[in-house]
Amino acid sequence: MTDKSANAMWGGRFAASPAEIMEEINASITFDKALAPQDIRGSKAHAAMLGETGIIAKGDAREILRGLDQIASEIADGSFTFSRALEDVHMNVESRLKDLIGAAAGRLHTARSRNDQVATDFRLFVRDATDGIIAGIGALQAALVAKAEAHATTVMPGFTHLQPAQPVTFGHHLLAYVEMLGRDRGRFVDARRRLNECPLGSAALAGTSFPIDRAKTAEVLGFDRPMANSIDGVADRDFALEVLAAASIAAVHLSRLAEEIVIWMTPQFGFIRLSDRFTTGSSIMPQKRNPDAAELVRAKVGRIAAAFHNLLIVMKGLPLAYSKDMQEDKEATFDAVASLRLALAAMAGMIADLEPVRDAMRAAAGRGYSTATDLADWLVRELKMPFREAHHVTGAIVKAAEDRGLELENVPIEVMQEVEPRITSGIYSVLSVENSVKSRKSYGGTSPQNVAKMARAWARRLEKEAAGR
Ligand code: ARG
Repeated sequence: MTDKSANAMWGGRFAASPAEIMEEINASITFDKALAPQDIRGSKAHAAMLGETGIIAKGDAREILRGLDQIASEIADGSFTFSRALEDVHMNVESRLKDLIGAAAGRLHTARSRNDQVATDFRLFVRDATDGIIAGIGALQAALVAKAEAHATTVMPGFTHLQPAQPVTFGHHLLAYVEMLGRDRGRFVDARRRLNECPLGSAALAGTSFPIDRAKTAEVLGFDRPMANSIDGVADRDFALEVLAAASIAAVHLSRLAEEIVIWMTPQFGFIRLSDRFTTGSSIMPQKRNPDAAELVRAKVGRIAAAFHNLLIVMKGLPLAYSKDMQEDKEATFDAVASLRLALAAMAGMIADLEPVRDAMRAAAGRGYSTATDLADWLVRELKMPFREAHHVTGAIVKAAEDRGLELENVPIEVMQEVEPRITSGIYSVLSVENSVKSRKSYGGTSPQNVAKMARAWARRLEKEAAGR
């Protein structure tokens, strides 16, 4: 077969030469240029250490640091040209360093490999992203807590199976998300603690014969310590997996709140109003107000959970130490953390913006015999009835109410007494939704008193967390 017919067989755009195909599959610069700030931070720490330990001349180290600073500003102002022929961010930076400072640039890579370099860069990136996510979670929690405090007494139906179950307060419902996000935050904080060890100095995989100071570079880069095993240092990406797992769970939480916003906004529910800052109109139906931001937050979990699976599957079965497969750790991770940060910000904006329609929530809270459990509890408390029997009696009263088209609080006393003669008019005190929520004072329950207290406690805790205490 001639070369020509081989090319014809590959067809299409891959009528390109093998060299071009190799460059396209091998290069990562189109996406790993996002690691440039971390790459320069890592290189500066390494160069300074090489100078301090006398592995390279102090003058060369100074030149390298100066050059790296200039590259950082070229990248920041957009004047830096990235080249695909130079494969990745590491080689792009090093090549530019050579243009800028000449031969001394060649000494930067002493006692280092791209394997520990990229492991360090990516860890720094994931750590920075984690810090951003933790802050984003805190901001969303603060928005929820403020709204919860304002609506500690606002009643709404609580649902199970999306059927009206028992009245709750809107504040209590919002604080449920604050708790979930608190655990999300904990997962990111844990992951950050584990990931904060420095792979730099692992070199290709075996360490180096140069007298490097790994404790020093680890410290300069804000890591707690150097990683203890050079093979592990270059070979694992579990730190990113942990963050992606935490991100997936957080995104699931956000999707549930987003879905509730979508439901609450329908005219059928009409529980909340969201301003046009977070909604859009329709190009054809003038009456429409669509909760696009909530829908998009609901959808983001798709790409975030996919990123987690993507990296899990890339890592599965990889022999130690580095394999080029691991270059595929980046794009999905970059996308996932950016998506989560955006979703958190959008959700915080929506929560601050939304206003409950109290009357609609109150009316809905009273429908569907939502205080039936309160009625049963009254029978247990006042008539010392076993709960199972009270459940049965209540069922008969609900049936009688249904037959007459009445809500429980409007069922005449005679009707109730037909079912259970010992019932007195004292029962009406538990049948209103306000009294129902007020009575749920058990720890963690929905009473306005509990909600106001919890909201204040959370506000104090969030202040401390935001101040890093
Ligand atoms: N671009 C590579 C990556 O992202 C850098 C490490 C390359 N190492 C190697 N031995 N080829 O994984």
